Amino acid sequence: MSLLIKGGRVVTDTEDYTADILCEGETITAIGSQLDSPAHATVIDAGGKLVMPGFIDPHVHIYLPFMGTYAKDDWDSAGRAAIVGGTTSLIEMICPAANEDPWEAYQLWRGKAESLAPCDFTFHMGVTRFDDGAADKFRRIVADGVASFKVFLAYKGALGVSDEELFKTLELAAELGVIVTAHCENETLVAELQQRLLAAGKTGPEFHEPSRPVRVEASGVQHLTTFAELTGASVYAVHTSNRAAVEAALAARGRGVKIWVETVIPYLTLDESYAQRPDFEGAKYVMSPPIRTKAEQEYLWQALAAGDVSTVATDHAPFDFQGQKEMGRGDFTKIPNGIPSVEERVKLLYTHGVVPGRITLNRFVDAASTQAAKLFGLYPQKGAIKVGSDADLVVWDPEHRGTISAETHLMQTDYSGFEGWQVQGRAEVVTVRGKVMAQSGKFVGEPGHGRFLARKPTH
Ligand code: URP
Ligand code: ZN
Ligand code: ZN
Ligand code: ZN
Repeated sequence: MSLLIKGGRVVTDTEDYTADILCEGETITAIGSQLDSPAHATVIDAGGKLVMPGFIDPHVHIYLPFMGTYAKDDWDSAGRAAIVGGTTSLIEMICPAANEDPWEAYQLWRGKAESLAPCDFTFHMGVTRFDDGAADKFRRIVADGVASFKVFLAYKGALGVSDEELFKTLELAAELGVIVTAHCENETLVAELQQRLLAAGKTGPEFHEPSRPVRVEASGVQHLTTFAELTGASVYAVHTSNRAAVEAALAARGRGVKIWVETVIPYLTLDESYAQRPDFEGAKYVMSPPIRTKAEQEYLWQALAAGDVSTVATDHAPFDFQGQKEMGRGDFTKIPNGIPSVEERVKLLYTHGVVPGRITLNRFVDAASTQAAKLFGLYPQKGAIKVGSDADLVVWDPEHRGTISAETHLMQTDYSGFEGWQVQGRAEVVTVRGKVMAQSGKFVGEPGHGRFLARKPTH
């Protein structure tokens, strides 16, 4: 099986040049000008198009039991949605209940993806309990190729860990050389603020943000960095929403703490007014940490352009408006948290980042693909256009105009947080290890093409 992508403008995290790319089997085998087409090769004319490495979303939830319900997508629907959007690899958070066995949870989560996922996939292992015997189980999971952990410093009484557990998790991570991704919020403050708001009759979705103010998140980041400093572990603050939180990370980095910062596409494109929409519609925009002000959004774009924020993920956590978000009518603390966006991340980042000149094309590729590959042990198999890299390629039409709608999206949710939004740019052709999986905005692949990406510790 060979594929020749001819005459595209190849854009990576650092390069920008015109070339042909030859893929044989699952791999890129040649890059050059006027490459000969092998017999029977599929030839794709990429003239006038960009050719970029397959995008990587390092923070998604697909199988997610959460707040008494389950997220709506499975690996088939989420994988199709990812691919038509240009994302060829997903990293999912394994989120076991505190009483679940970690190895069994790993098998359960992985089993949901195996033979169903059309895109490649791997996991961050959620540590939701660290008791006697836990270390050996996590060692085994890391040895099996899951070279990153996830901890929650939030969701008191559910997924959150104690400080003792956090310390032991980071200690083990430092020993094993795995990076720890962390949801950073001070869970005690969240619980207290929620109770005060509810007691004052402030029960609507617009009170979600005031229950988790920016300082609560910055405090979580600060807390994480203290533990990282004392253990020497590498850490990654997920879904960072504001200046104070980013600055807490940067201050720690200045003292030598190995910390990286992720933001997610909802924070770059939405603001607090969405959760204030009347008739409970604000619930569509409830995620944690909350969507912030326009000023915070502008700061995040600057931090992204500067590289202080390394990656743009989604935190895809899809819950229906009808039946699921509605569980929190009359009590915002019961609204399932999350905004579906695995399908729209790349085009929203292009439309709101590259088109208005907030970020360069190279930084776009870096933030949406290469940085995640480097941080999570996938580079240069993923996140690169090099001879020997996986043939995960996106042929991007920079001029295409489209409209986002729940009517047409492939995600399973009954709403889009971006309904009616105009977007520029589209993935015209998407390949996963040499196989064409999307064409002209349509999924043309098969379920189960995706493969588990075993990773080695790199920190
Ligand atoms: O609101 C969010 N973020 N939902 C998913 C769970 C998490 O905290 O990542
Ligand atoms: Zn989170
Ligand atoms: Zn998440
Ligand atoms: Zn296949």
